Parts: sequence; structure tokens; C-alpha cells
Amino acid sequence: MKKAIIALSIVFFFSFFLLAGAAYSYGWNKYSQERKQPIAFNHVVHARDLNIACNHCHTYADKSIHAGIPSVATCMECHKDVKKDSPQIKILAKHWETKTPIQWAKIHNLPDFIYFSHKRHVKKGLDCTQCHGRVQSMPEMRQVSSLKMGWCVSCHVEKNAPRDCWTCHK
Ligand code: HEC
Ligand code: HEC
Ligand code: HEC
Ligand code: HEC
Ligand code: HEC
Repeated sequence: MKKAIIALSIVFFFSFFLLAGAAYSYGWNKYSQERKQPIAFNHVVHARDLNIACNHCHTYADKSIHAGIPSVATCMECHKDVKKDSPQIKILAKHWETKTPIQWAKIHNLPDFIYFSHKRHVKKGLDCTQCHGRVQSMPEMRQVSSLKMGWCVSCHVEKNAPRDCWTCHK
């Protein structure tokens, strides 16, 4: 009897770690949220293997507040011909034919009361990787910086950028 209880406790003990490990690898790590993209777009294929510049798709990064998500037209520069028979590219082509934008799930999201401008940071010479990590090696886009106030302020301290509350708070 006693042996059975001990054996059972051991089983429970290990299954806890197994479950926690599985949950972690499933995506309960720091900043990831549950989100499914309508098309399995892969930055490794496009930004690393094909070496397409970030700015080719995120056209406004050095011109505006938002970096911008590419339109279907940008994808069709290549996919009018490339991989036409792939089921994923058929979804893309459908958007092109019906002139409907792709509803990409948003990954980074600052609260509305915050002012942040890509242009300001990119023009200063900051690289995308400083805030977004090695996007070229992410088969699935994820957020690697907390985007919390402490994160913004610690870089502002380091680079001697403004720290006045109204710099970022509107
Ligand atoms: C061929 C076009 C293309 C290229 C090149 C490209 N991206 Fe993207 N990027 C996308 C698309 C489409 C999405 C939306 C789908 C997704 O999140 O994967 C996206 C999403 C993102 C996001 C997340 C947006 C959000 O919702 O918060 C970041 C950050 C980003 N890209 C950075 C980069 C960086 C940095 C590079 C260069 C290393 C790059 N991208 C190159 C097309 C591109
Ligand atoms: C100083 C940090 C920083 C740098 C440098 C930076 N980003 Fe961002 N990026 C952010 C933050 C913060 C957000 C979230 C903005 C929001 O929610 O309004 C964001 C959001 C985005 C988004 C999704 C929303 C949007 O603005 O369209 C894309 C795409 C993106 N960044 C691409 C890039 C690319 C490409 C580069 C390099 C050319 C770059 N970023 C450089 C901090 C940065
Ligand atoms: C400069 C050319 C170019 C642009 C622009 C481009 N792609 Fe691609 N894409 C390719 C190539 C080449 C491949 C095939 C890589 C390979 O051989 O597997 C590919 C592969 C893909 C695949 C995988 C298809 C499969 O079934 O294997 C998807 C999905 C995809 N691209 C979506 C997009 C989307 C969405 C955009 C616009 C945001 C885009 N691509 C922009 C060239 C491009
Ligand atoms: C990796 C470093 C870095 C990070 C992270 C960063 N910043 Fe900055 N930021 C700078 C630098 C450098 C400048 C100065 C740019 C200039 O002088 O033109 C700046 C300038 C600014 C400005 C313009 C200040 C002015 O003169 O009016 C705003 C607004 C701003 N940042 C907001 C933010 C917010 C909000 C975040 C976090 C979501 C953030 N920054 C994260 C480096 C950073
Ligand atoms: C460099 C940009 C930056 C500066 C400077 C800054 N903040 Fe923030 N602050 C943020 C960001 C981004 C958030 C939202 C993310 C978070 O909650 O950490 C935030 C959130 C906050 C919040 C939480 C608000 C809420 O409702 O969740 C408070 C309070 C706050 N800031 C106060 C201040 C005060 C006071 C100052 C001046 C001493 C200041 N901040 C300066 C970027 C900044």
C-alpha cells in the first residue's frame, strides 16, 4: 500500500514537469500570445534566404510613425509566378483577385497613450534587430522586447535621448 502511494506520487511529480515543459514549448514563454496568421509567411525564407531588404516590405520604417505591413501587390511582384500551385500562394492569389487585404494578426502593440515613431529611431541609425531581434531567423514572427516603459527608458538613458514624461506620453 505504502509503496503504491510513493509510486503514484513519483508519477504525479514527473508528470507535473512534463506538462509544464510541454506548455512552455507550446508557447507560454514570456511575450508570446496565441495568434494564427492567415498565410504562413516566413521571414527566414524572405529576409534571410532570399535576402529581401526589410524596407522593401516595411516601406515606411524610415518615413513615418508606423513601419507598415506590405500590401498584397508587394507579394505578387514574385508570387504571380513563384510557387503558384502552393495552397498558401493560392490563398494569396485569391486576395489579389478579389482586391481584399490580408488580415495579418498584429504582434507588437503599444497602448494608445504612447507616442512612438519608427522614423525617429531608424533615422538615428538604430537597426531593426536592436528592438525586434534577429527577425531573419524567425520562421514565425514573435516579440522579443517587452515594450514596457523600463525598456524604452533604459535605452534612452544609454543613448542620452529625452526622458521627459511627455516625450512618450500623450
Ligand atoms: C517579403 C516581405 C517582408 C520582408 C522582406 C520582411 N518582412 Fe517583416 N513582415 C512581413 C509580413 C507579411 C508580416 C506580417 C506577418 C507576420 O507577422 O509574419 C511581417 C511582420 C513583421 C513584424 C511584426 C509586425 C507586428 O504585427 O507587430 C516585424 C517586427 C517585422 N516584420 C520586421 C521585419 C524585419 C526586421 C525585416 C528584415 C530583417 C523584415 N520584417 C522583412 C513581410 C516582410
Ligand atoms: C527603437 C526600437 C525599434 C526599432 C529600431 C524598430 N522598431 Fe519596429 N516596432 C517598435 C515598437 C515599439 C513597435 C510597436 C509600435 C506600436 O504598437 O505602435 C514596433 C512595431 C513594428 C511593426 C508593426 C507595426 C508598424 O509599425 O507597422 C513593424 C512591421 C516593424 N516594427 C518593423 C520594423 C523594421 C522593419 C525596423 C527596421 C527598419 C524596425 N521596426 C525598427 C520598435 C522598434
Ligand atoms: C522577391 C520575391 C518575393 C516576394 C516579394 C515575396 N515572396 Fe514569398 N516566396 C518567394 C520565393 C522565391 C519563395 C519560395 C522559396 C522556396 O523555394 O521554397 C517564397 C515562398 C513563399 C511561401 C511558401 C510557399 C510554399 O508553399 O512553400 C509563402 C506562403 C510566401 N512566400 C508568401 C509571401 C507573402 C505573403 C509575401 C508578401 C508579404 C511574399 N511571399 C513576398 C519570393 C517572394
Ligand atoms: C534601442 C534604443 C531605444 C529604444 C529601445 C527606444 N528608444 Fe526612443 N529614442 C532613442 C534614441 C537614440 C532617440 C533620439 C533620436 C533623435 O535624437 O532623433 C529616441 C527618441 C525618441 C522619441 C523622440 C524624442 C523627441 O526628441 O521628441 C520618442 C517619442 C521616443 N524615442 C519614444 C520611445 C518609446 C515610446 C520607446 C519604447 C516603446 C522607445 N522610444 C524605445 C532610442 C531608443
Ligand atoms: C521613453 C518613453 C517613456 C518615457 C520617457 C516615460 N514613459 Fe511612462 N510609459 C512608457 C510606455 C511605453 C508605457 C506603457 C508600457 C508600460 O506600461 O510599461 C508607459 C507606462 C507608464 C505608466 C503606466 C500607465 C498605465 O496605465 O499602465 C505610468 C504611470 C507612466 N508610464 C508614468 C511615467 C512618468 C511619470 C514618466 C516621467 C517621469 C514617464 N512615464 C516617462 C514610456 C515612457
